[in-house]
Amino acid sequence: MKKPTYILGLNFAYHELSACIIKNGKLLAAVEEERFSRIKRGKQALINNPDVLPKEAINYCLDIAQIPLKRVNYIGLSFSPKERLKNINVDSYYMPGNWGSERGERLFYKKITRVPLLLNHLAGEDLSRKIRWIPHHICHASSAFFVSPFSKSAILSIDGIGELSSTWMGYGKNNAIQVLKEIYYPNSLGFLWEKISKYLGFTEYDASKIMGLAAYGNPRRFYKIFQKIVQLKADGEFTVDNSIMRFRMDDFSQLEDLFKTPKEIRRPLKPTKNHKDIAAALQAITDDVVIHLVTFLSKKTGSKNICLAGGVALNCVSNSLLLKNSICKNLYVQPAANDAGTALGAAYYIWHQELNKPRSFIMENVYWGPKYSDLEIISALKKFKISSYKKTTDITEKVAEKLSEGKIIGWFQGREEWGPRALGNRSLLADPRRKDMKEILNERIKRRESFRPFAPSVLKEFLSSWFKEHRWGKSLSAEFMEVNFDAKKIKQKKIPSVIHIDGTGRLQVVSKKTNPLYHKLIYQFYKRTGVPIVLNTSFNDNEPIVCSPEDAIKTFKRTKMDYLAIGNYLVSK
Ligand SMILES: [Fe+2]
Repeated sequence: MKKPTYILGLNFAYHELSACIIKNGKLLAAVEEERFSRIKRGKQALINNPDVLPKEAINYCLDIAQIPLKRVNYIGLSFSPKERLKNINVDSYYMPGNWGSERGERLFYKKITRVPLLLNHLAGEDLSRKIRWIPHHICHASSAFFVSPFSKSAILSIDGIGELSSTWMGYGKNNAIQVLKEIYYPNSLGFLWEKISKYLGFTEYDASKIMGLAAYGNPRRFYKIFQKIVQLKADGEFTVDNSIMRFRMDDFSQLEDLFKTPKEIRRPLKPTKNHKDIAAALQAITDDVVIHLVTFLSKKTGSKNICLAGGVALNCVSNSLLLKNSICKNLYVQPAANDAGTALGAAYYIWHQELNKPRSFIMENVYWGPKYSDLEIISALKKFKISSYKKTTDITEKVAEKLSEGKIIGWFQGREEWGPRALGNRSLLADPRRKDMKEILNERIKRRESFRPFAPSVLKEFLSSWFKEHRWGKSLSAEFMEVNFDAKKIKQKKIPSVIHIDGTGRLQVVSKKTNPLYHKLIYQFYKRTGVPIVLNTSFNDNEPIVCSPEDAIKTFKRTKMDYLAIGNYLVSK
């Protein structure tokens, strides 16, 4: 019998370190390093650390495949170091020794090109002939198209920066993708969000908070200013004025002048009207650019399908507009649309484009991370000297009962989610009917800003009776929490804790096929309450989402959650 082909995909150049492994084109495992190391995003993207590898994620993937590193046939690295060198002296807005400077970029190049040596060291033999460097946006694009349900599709990748480009447009047909157009730094939507987040007192990683805040603001007030910064051009192009943005500098002077508002020093606990209106205008201009790009791509390719990737593809507001406004018919957003997903793209690019293998895998669910046995769960409980637990015959029934009584449950089941969203295997659950549940959750566990919405998990069968369903065609995006829906007016007051200020639910559709246990739990809750929806937020407390039983127990003990439902065990305080 022919030996199977294993391909390891790795992402490490900037952040969101991750690894995945595929065997003859079928995904076996995909996971982010942060879930093991407990360091958010695995590391911060710095000029001097591109050689920090996702070692624990690699080990996990090899464990699942039950092979040593040297048995892997190919290793896809989601970056092109040579292409990155084109960043030197692009414009005058950079800091000496850092991104964009000659010294900085040379240091980055020197460090990242050490990676094959480091991998050789890990394997104990020379792997160089197996290693492929694949450009960042090709990996984003591959991560979306090759695992999508489409045989033909337009593809759009939008992020901060790959090597030099920030936006990549292309077309996928069967087992090949081709580029149609790239838009280069500093014309970057991802960096626009990072810089405005910092300007408003948040970190560059807080785009999702700004997206939540935007719904509270008036998009018209500052829209003209954003039009000055971001301009739509013919042929699907756009520009961002870097003499204003100064992405690679800690300089906000031009923004302060334009918005007549000083940069916030720290995260504002109560955002002002200015904050809200700036966020709203940023969302509005982003919607315009995304629609502009997809409209161009649809015309150019004649495709009604679109695959999205890159950090900006996590903007569920813009994504939804594509469907609502019929800019596309079918949408697929790979769940790890951020840089973590490029590991997946690197592996599938090799399998399809280099080895010319036919398509054979669709990513229909996100459960590609670690799972733990009853034995491991019991031994973790013992380690923390917890005796207040009961084994249940049907954990869903007990949990549904507790949820309907207003309890907050840590729900830890099966394989961990791939991508930044907790989708019913490492989730915190609560009753969406309670008006005060958002405040209770924030006060007792999450400590999030009060303006951020919590998401509903909705049974697929009931979606259209609670939300205005836009055509989502063959889209799986709603199962991955990547589009939002307008809640029906009459239903909004029944589930106040999961309806955002703009009347939307940034929801997860739960189907029996993708997560039968979670589906059963919500169904049990529905039988008790008449509401086929639970509040779902990630199982964490200002840390990466919990991965192991030990992580879950630590977070359970540290916070004021009421119960932990871990495997078949219900743990009480
Ligand atoms: Fe990226």
